[in-house]
Amino acid sequence: MMKPYQQLPIEFSILKQREFEQIRQFLYEEAGIFLSDIKKSLVASRLCKRLKETGYQNYGDYFEFVKNNLQHIEYHHFIDALTTNETFFFRENEHFDFVKQLIKDHSQKKSWQAWSAACSSGEEAYSLAMLFADILGIDGQWQVQGSDISQRVLAKAELAHYLLERNEGIGFERLQKYCLKGVGRQSGTFLIDDILKDKVSFFTMNLTQSCESVGMCDVIFIRNVMIYFDADSKQRVINNVVKQLKVGGYLFISHTESLMHVNHRLKQIKPSIYQRI
Ligand SMILES: C[S@@+](CC[C@H](N)C(=O)[O-])C[C@H]1O[C@@H](n2cnc3c(N)ncnc32)[C@H](O)[C@@H]1O
Repeated sequence: MMKPYQQLPIEFSILKQREFEQIRQFLYEEAGIFLSDIKKSLVASRLCKRLKETGYQNYGDYFEFVKNNLQHIEYHHFIDALTTNETFFFRENEHFDFVKQLIKDHSQKKSWQAWSAACSSGEEAYSLAMLFADILGIDGQWQVQGSDISQRVLAKAELAHYLLERNEGIGFERLQKYCLKGVGRQSGTFLIDDILKDKVSFFTMNLTQSCESVGMCDVIFIRNVMIYFDADSKQRVINNVVKQLKVGGYLFISHTESLMHVNHRLKQIKPSIYQRI
């Protein structure tokens, strides 16, 4: 018996090895992110959602479109789909303790510029802002910038609306000072209050390209992003980022990352804290 021909659901389309390699190379060139072979199924499942959204029937055609339409919104969806955005408030708290002490030790300093490079959905940038506000006051001369390659996470950062379960680490006092608790339909969520939000600005930035528009910073957090880079990308990114660090300023990487085999003119102060000299 013969049945009418039906197209297979997209779930059954296969990411061919050649396509995976082309996608891997493209992502590496665009964002410095290196995908090892074991990431093939992850790439397939993440891009499968894009295929469903866009109506493409196979990975090859979809990728061909993205590659040839860098100004199209789908290019951003593609990058979004292939980046990992895990983050939380006051992650690796020792870094915040260090910054707190730094601000206290230099309380006469005229102004502070802090940058959360690869800020994901904003938790890191807002944690920094809370710290500055705690010590210098909300109207103090400080400013926090947050940037990321992914527009999707930046939209979340701008919204500043989080699930209550994400507030761990902020502490009750700061929640009272800088956040609004959702009620009614918004219960189970909280919002960063505008008084704090207004001191934080977010923008798209690919760290493999020039970061000059950030200006010169006293404190730079570049944490949990270099794990996705190979040695060459890391070097490129560190060159770009360190250019924006003032002499005497501090750069923070994650405790799980290292600058080994990266050329830089930074002095290591602690395992994951560096100072520009
Ligand atoms: C795991 S999150 C880290 C968030 C935060 N820094 C933290 O430590 O919690 C990594 C972020 O790096 C961003 N990213 C990846 N490659 C990037 C690049 N080339 N330029 C800028 N951001 C990038 C991703 O979009 C993602 O949001």
